[in-house]
Amino acid sequence: MSVISLSVNGAVHEVDIDPATPLLYVLRNDLGLRGPRFGCGLGQCGACTVIIDGAAVRSCQLPTAAVSGNITTLEGLAQNGILHPLQQAWIDEQVPQCGYCQNGQLMTAKALLDRNPSPTDAEIREGMEGALCRCMTYYRIHAAIKRVVSNAATALFIDASDKTEAQV
Ligand code: FES
Ligand code: FES
Repeated sequence: MSVISLSVNGAVHEVDIDPATPLLYVLRNDLGLRGPRFGCGLGQCGACTVIIDGAAVRSCQLPTAAVSGNITTLEGLAQNGILHPLQQAWIDEQVPQCGYCQNGQLMTAKALLDRNPSPTDAEIREGMEGALCRCMTYYRIHAAIKRVVSNAATALFIDASDKTEAQV
């Protein structure tokens, strides 16, 4: 056993664990963060996805001792009680069916939009590849991501219009 320090959702935690323990187990069992899910346990389905320093990472196969960056879990998406735009779009598009995969879908989508805020349809498909859903919610996931992209573009347009009017 050894004490490992983890930065999760902006807070630092110390856990006394076997360093080989997969990060997913530590998040769920030691820190009580139940957003990331155990699906395949083999790095193949994406249900356990978290974001580490901007990258979507499968936590079921990642030894906790190998983690050095800032971890964001599903619980870290909402800020001050306000849902992340992706979470709101998930609701607006009624995305989930059974819901089991949706942590992985949301976290993969967040990492995608953080690195590319205006992805094309092809880039969304490519960015979401490998986040598996047995309920086939892929079309609604795609629509939700497009909704966020479209809302962000509209907000930018309105913001630019306001500034132009203010200058007139
Ligand atoms: S549970 Fe980690 S990829 Fe499936
Ligand atoms: S919503 Fe059921 S597995 Fe994706």
